[in-house]
Formats: sequence, structure tokens, C-alpha cells
Amino acid sequence: MQNYSEELNFSKEIAFEAGKILSKHFGNIKTINKKSSYVDLVTKADLKSENLLVRCIQKKFPKHNIITEESDLKENKSDFRWVLDPLDGTTNFVHNLPIFAVSIGLQYRKKTILGVVYNPAADKMFYASKNNNSYLNGNLINISSSKTLSDSLIVTGFPYLKDDKWDKSFDIFKDIYSQTRGVRRLGAAALDLCFVAMGRFEAFYEFNLKPWDICAGAIIAKEAGASVTDWNNKPYQFSGNRILATNTKIHKAMVDILTKDDYKVIFEK
Ligand code: IPD
Ligand code: CA
Ligand code: CA
Repeated sequence: MQNYSEELNFSKEIAFEAGKILSKHFGNIKTINKKSSYVDLVTKADLKSENLLVRCIQKKFPKHNIITEESDLKENKSDFRWVLDPLDGTTNFVHNLPIFAVSIGLQYRKKTILGVVYNPAADKMFYASKNNNSYLNGNLINISSSKTLSDSLIVTGFPYLKDDKWDKSFDIFKDIYSQTRGVRRLGAAALDLCFVAMGRFEAFYEFNLKPWDICAGAIIAKEAGASVTDWNNKPYQFSGNRILATNTKIHKAMVDILTKDDYKVIFEK
């Protein structure tokens, strides 16, 4: 079986290089641009990191497709597709909070074959390739063994768009908060998934994400033993619209909450 070690090593290298760019700008951001709203931000660091990743991939794999947060790139006829978030956690980044990452996923025929998530502020490199386990800085990582919600710490996030679904997400938050040890909101979905992979959290749930927020983190969580699905336990969507990643043991309990009738607006278009 193909193990994609060349692509994985390359991904780690470029994640590290992009991380150096982010570190250089961390604490020094003077201009912040707004995208869809005043909470949806982009900085020079996002763009420089993206530029480096795209240039390196196009040089090494000129035929491959690339989907990346800050640019629309022309599609090639290739079975390979890179899915990039050059800076996940931009809001943290602009507030000098060191919870942010470079996220690189690679798919073959629309199936994710590897993922790398690098947090330069802590020099933590998470990575996985299909059927090959998950690692943090060269050491195997695994999901937590907690069996009940009451022994679990959960992480989530909230979308930028403030609509009916957004309103409902606070009811869900309260529901889950009341049955667990608590719910954290760290602000970088790629790292949230890696923290499930390494057993810090028993579950991560969020909706209205984008492919680049979850592509790499999802395979890292899965390869560490996590269950990663849609909120209703069906396969999760590439789009990032609803994701649930758990340590498997509490998956059903989380699905039971997230599929309550009260929250069905989240499943509407
Ligand atoms: C965001 C982060 C955050 C999540 C947002 C994402 P960005 O990504 O992953 O945790 O709650 O929905 O958009 O904008 O910092 O790349
Ligand atoms: Ca992101
Ligand atoms: Ca981003």
C-alpha cells in the first residue's frame, strides 16, 4: 500500500517554513483586513504563509489541484487536491494569543490521505497519513479513554455569521456544558481536532466550518482512533458543514444531544 511518505515529509517541511513566516509576524500585526464581517479577519501573515505554501506545492507537484482559504486557484485535471489553511486561528493571532496553526491536507480522489497541522508558537507538529497512525513531534498520539460525558472536556467554536443557527449554538453549548466537565472555545479548529487526537479533549463539535479548517485535523484525529462524523453520525462532509470528532466512547452520547429536535435548525440549508 502506498504510504505517501514523500508527500508527508514535504508537507511537514512546508508547514514548518510557513510557521516561520507566522512567527515572524506574530506580535507585530499592524494592519488587519476584514472579509465577510468585522469578525472575519485576514492579515499579511495569512497571505504570506499562503503564498509560500502554494509556491512550494506548485513547484513540486505542478499538476495537483490546490484549494486554499485566501485565493481561488485554477483547477487542473488531477486526482490530487491539497487543502490549505495558511493560518487557522487568525483572530487569536491578531490578539497575540499563541493558539494558531498552519493546516495542510492532501486528498487523492477526494479521500484525505494525509494531514499536517503545525503550531509554530509551541513548535508542535501534528501529522498523520492514512492507515499509519498519528504523531506529535515524532511521538504516537492517541485519543482519551474517558467513557462518559461527565468525565469529558469538550471543545467547540462558533461561526462568524450571526443567524438563527448561531443563536441555537448557544443552547447547544449550555446543554453540553451542563453534562460534561466543561466546554472550551480555543479559536483554531485544526488544533481543536489535534487536541482530540492527543486526548486533551474527549470531543470537538462545530458547524459552518470550511474544508481547510478540518481536512488535515480530521485525518489526524481519525488516525489517533477518533470517530469523526457529521452531527447525526453520517460521514462528515468535505464542506465543513457540521463536524463531530470524539474519542469514540462518548460519540453516541454526543450524537444524541446534537440531533435533538430542538436543534434541528442546524441541519437546515
Ligand atoms: C476559524 C477557526 C475557528 C473557527 C472559525 C474558523 P480562521 O478559522 O478555525 O476556530 O471557529 O469558524 O473560521 O478564520 O482563523 O482560519
Ligand atoms: Ca480556519
Ligand atoms: Ca485561515
